[in-house]
Amino acid sequence: MLIRHPEPIPEREVTDASIFLRRRQFLQNAAVGAAVLTAGGPFLAGCTDAQEPPARGPKLPGVKAGPPALATDETPTAYHDATAYNNFYEFGTDKGDPARYAGSLRTEPWSVTVEGEVAKPGVVPLEEILRPHPLEERIYRLRCVEAWSMVIPWVGFPLGDLLKRFEPTSNARYVAFETLHDPEQMPGQKRRVLDWPYREGLRMDEAMHPLAILAVGMYGEALPNQNGAPLRLVVPWKYGFKSIKSIVKIRLQREQPYTSWNDQAPREYGFHANVNPEVDHPRWSQKRERRIGDYRKRPTLPFNGYGEQVASLYAGMDLRVLF
Ligand code: MTE
Repeated sequence: MLIRHPEPIPEREVTDASIFLRRRQFLQNAAVGAAVLTAGGPFLAGCTDAQEPPARGPKLPGVKAGPPALATDETPTAYHDATAYNNFYEFGTDKGDPARYAGSLRTEPWSVTVEGEVAKPGVVPLEEILRPHPLEERIYRLRCVEAWSMVIPWVGFPLGDLLKRFEPTSNARYVAFETLHDPEQMPGQKRRVLDWPYREGLRMDEAMHPLAILAVGMYGEALPNQNGAPLRLVVPWKYGFKSIKSIVKIRLQREQPYTSWNDQAPREYGFHANVNPEVDHPRWSQKRERRIGDYRKRPTLPFNGYGEQVASLYAGMDLRVLF
C-alpha cells in the first residue's frame, strides 16, 4: 500500500525553500523507505505499466518560471515514467532499481565540498548552497545515450551562479563532479559496475552556460531519490550520463577531469558527449530516439535541439572528436 503525504503542509507558504526542501526530503525518504518494505507495490514495479499513480508530495515554494527562451513547449513526460524508469547504477542496473532501492539514500544532512582552483573553497551545507539562489522551473528535453528521451520540468538554478560564489581562479578550466560514495546507502556500489564514485565533468565555459543547471526538484516537487536527490546536474544538450546525480563534490581544475563512463569505455562515451545524431554509438544508431510514453521513434536533434544556444561553444571544432 502506498503512503501518501498529508497536504498541503501549511508551513510551506512561509518557509525558506532550503529548509522546506530538507523537511520534504525527510518525508519523502520515509515514504520511499516504507514503500520498499511493501515491495511489489505498483510504484515499485519499476515499469511503465503501473496501475496506480505514485505518491506525490507537496509543491516546492517560490518557484518562478525560467527564461522562456530556454524552455521547450513539448509535453512533459508522465511523472510516473520519469520517476520509475531511471539510470542510477548506485542502486542497480535495471531501470526500475532506483525507484525500488533509492529509499536507503539519506539526503539529510547533506553537504558539498567545493575545492581546487577557487579563492573560497569549503565544505558547504546544502542549505547554504541553496540559500541565495531563486528556484526556477526549466522544462528541458533529456536524451539518454541509450536512445530514449523524456521532457522533464526541472526545478533548480544556474550552475554558473553557484560557481561564481566560490571565485574561480584563472586556472579553472574544468569542473569535476562526484556523487556520494557509500555502499551501505548505495548498495549498487558493492558491485564494481563502475569505478565508484560516479564522476563527471564539464569545461568551464560549458558550466557557466545559462542552460546548465543544478536541480533540486522536478514537477514542482523536491527531487525523488531515484532522480538524484538532493542535488544533481542537468546539462540538456549533452547525453544524460553527463547529468550526474546526488553530488557531494565540485572541484575546479586546470586539467580535463577523469569521468566514469569515458574511463570505462572511451570509444563509446566521450568526455564532451554532446547529443549528435551524426555520430553513432559503436553499437547502435543515434539518429532516432524513443520518447518515453510515445510509440513511434522521432529524429534526434543536434545538441538535443539546443544548438542555437550552445553550438558557438564548439565553433571550429570537429564535432566527431568532441564525442
Ligand atoms: N548519476 C549517477 N550518480 N549515477 C548514474 O548511474 N546515470 C546517468 C545520469 N546520472 C547516473 C547518473 C544517466 S546514464 C542518465 S540517462 C541520467 O542520469 C538519467 O537521469 P534520470 O534517471 O533522472 O532520468
